[in-house]
Amino acid sequence: MNLILLGAPGAGKGTQAEILCERLNIPTISTGNMIREAMKSGTEMGLKAKEYAENGKLVPDEVVIGIVDERLRQDDCKNGFILDGFPRTIPQAEALDRMGITIDRVVDINVPDEVITRRVSGRRACLDCGSTYHIETKKPNVEGICDRCGSTLVQRKDDLPETVLERLHVYHAQTEPLRDYYAAAGKLLVVDGQQGIQEIAEQTLELLKG
Ligand code: AP5
Repeated sequence: MNLILLGAPGAGKGTQAEILCERLNIPTISTGNMIREAMKSGTEMGLKAKEYAENGKLVPDEVVIGIVDERLRQDDCKNGFILDGFPRTIPQAEALDRMGITIDRVVDINVPDEVITRRVSGRRACLDCGSTYHIETKKPNVEGICDRCGSTLVQRKDDLPETVLERLHVYHAQTEPLRDYYAAAGKLLVVDGQQGIQEIAEQTLELLKG
């Protein structure tokens, strides 16, 4: 199954992708994680992306489309994949169509802005493996340490309050129109993102069966 997870910044796309990737046995492709890895290793793409990502802006379409195109050609995507954070603009969705990729379902995780700001301010992230935690709702086993890889958890620079407001603004202007784009194609499923993490995953899996 080729799946897209849509939703505002901090709606829980990464959290759901972790669960769905295990349950559906297909890889997750997170453009946010790929961009953060490139920033950390100082690659040319990472240096280009840094200024945008850290200020809550979208990285230019041509940069992101290139990395997704390359990633989707890898063997592990042959039986399906979960796109987390891509597409984020109509031109990105059109580029995906031009790649000849058929998307089966698009799951929109629906969360109001005021809940988003609370979630994101409590988020702690592992910049090594991309896992995310929350100081109240998803604590690691050992405070400050990633359960999966043992690295130190940090607060992302783009999770600071003023940057989150900018990310929400960008989301409403550039990403939200994708709901209509995929609804018109008959592919959109909407889940209530204010439920517990497991409940959202179960509701999503149920909807995907239909
Ligand atoms: P990216 O990492 O994709 O950022 P995002 O979409 O803003 O998504 P987040 O990682 O902030 O949130 P999420 O929805 O995954 O939520 P999470 O599961 O962590 O991208 C970062 C940047 O890279 C972008 O701003 C942009 O610059 C660039 N970029 C990436 N893709 C791009 C593209 N395609 N085009 C251009 N630029 C691109 O959950 C949030 C918190 O809430 C966590 O702490 C979690 O534990 C908690 N939580 C989750 N679910 C629940 C729940 N149900 N109840 C309570 N708490 C919950």
